[in-house]
Amino acid sequence: MTYRQLIRRARKAVPGAALTAALTAGFLTGTATTSQAATQGPCDIYAAGRTPCVAAHSTTRALYGSYGGPLYQVRRGTDNATRDIGPLGAGGYADAAAQDAFCAGTRCVITVIYDQSGKGNHLTQAPGGGAAGGPDDLANAFEAPVTVGGHKAYGVYVAPGTGYRNNHTTGVATGDQPEGMYAIFDGTHVNGGCCFDYGNAETSNNDDGNGTMEALYFGSSKGWGWGSGNGPWVMADLENGLFSGVNRGFNAGDPSVDSRFLTAMLKGGPNRWAIRGGDAQSGGLSTFYNGVRPTAGGYNPMKKQGAIILGIGGDNSKWAQGTFYEGVMTSGYPSDATENAVQANITAAGYTSGSTGTGTLTPGSRISLQATTAPCCTSHYLRHDDADTKVVISSLNSSSSATDKADATWIVRAGLADSSCVSFESADSPGRFLRHFNYQLYLNVDDGAGAFAQDATFCPTKGNSGTGTSLQSVNFPTKYLRHYDYTAYVASNGGANSWDSTTSWADDTSWTIAQPWS
Ligand code: AHR
Repeated sequence: MTYRQLIRRARKAVPGAALTAALTAGFLTGTATTSQAATQGPCDIYAAGRTPCVAAHSTTRALYGSYGGPLYQVRRGTDNATRDIGPLGAGGYADAAAQDAFCAGTRCVITVIYDQSGKGNHLTQAPGGGAAGGPDDLANAFEAPVTVGGHKAYGVYVAPGTGYRNNHTTGVATGDQPEGMYAIFDGTHVNGGCCFDYGNAETSNNDDGNGTMEALYFGSSKGWGWGSGNGPWVMADLENGLFSGVNRGFNAGDPSVDSRFLTAMLKGGPNRWAIRGGDAQSGGLSTFYNGVRPTAGGYNPMKKQGAIILGIGGDNSKWAQGTFYEGVMTSGYPSDATENAVQANITAAGYTSGSTGTGTLTPGSRISLQATTAPCCTSHYLRHDDADTKVVISSLNSSSSATDKADATWIVRAGLADSSCVSFESADSPGRFLRHFNYQLYLNVDDGAGAFAQDATFCPTKGNSGTGTSLQSVNFPTKYLRHYDYTAYVASNGGANSWDSTTSWADDTSWTIAQPWS
């Protein structure tokens, strides 16, 4: 039976609101298991609700039960060759192993995020715009590892300066036409810069005035609007304004939301719009705003232009950061019931953080961690000081003292906060572990507290530069163990601290698991 026949049969058997209940209960969603792809994707559900996807972007999974085409394209540094990464099978999860093999030992960036809807609305490197020149940076393909349905995949890590765009779309709403959209973001990877957006924007790369865009925004900007708490908030970027409710400024109904995986939804049509959101791992959606268009400023009717952006504002403002896993845009204003069924599909997909494999880091083994940044540091190893508790890198060779060698030797332990990840105990100071505090690395005694365990647990991932291994902080998953100015930190690629510098970030966070010095 084809999908259309299935939906027709379902509509006859379970009309109206009952269809949504059936969808939510899994009648049509199909529940993902570790070995099974979803039989229905979010876009099948939107189609059943008569608001079909006109753009469907994901680097982690197919968004239709029958989609088996490419999800995204990567380009590697060694020879600029490109490779499409598809799902493991129709309707399935991304083939991350294909990326790992193609990008082995070299940098890789995401060059294309394919549109699965058949409309050809692919996302590629954003050009310069009214607010900032371009072309924008492309996302490092390794920086947002994730597990979905038990399968390793990679999201799109948007460091400041990174952006994707398509100014020549087909089928995307223009003018005051109704549309819907959702995206799954990392609720812990945000800043207050303008503007980490996904959705409808100007085709000109410029700020063309109020109402010329309608995109999901996620972050902690208070420049135009904000909600309750300290953020981050899901808001609507309607151009020259991030809206948390009917008008600019404070709207109490828009809560701070920071779950590790976050479902953000936005929809807009003639004089109505809504923001909804929820935890992408479990539970339903809440409605943060549902009402009329802003009462002033020329946002009614809207003047949408129908481009699609990711990671930037409508005028290419590119000071924001965030992580995107999947998102779609629809034609027509989706019902709450359809969106609820989509949320059920999302939670069934099984997004989880934690380890994507400890690789050669076997608990109990002794190792040393060698820096890979050339030319400064390839003879340097991660070690603790003797005079204090700081953790640094320094050059070692076979003539180094026994003390220096022991200081640079670590015993791999099962992660104190997550046994699928690892912790590092000092070889010459038993009971003392590598841990971050205020984002700097120290060697401290395990005090048995939960906070210590979190600060001392790192999830190994494929090296951010394509070489070696990166060590992702379990409680700050956008931050990785990094050396900066010969001192060790957990650092994000761009951010408030000096050690978050984007210069050499991928190399500084990539380590060779070396033979132990002692
Ligand atoms: O609306 C907020 C931002 O303002 C838009 O994203 C950008 O185009 C303008 O600078």
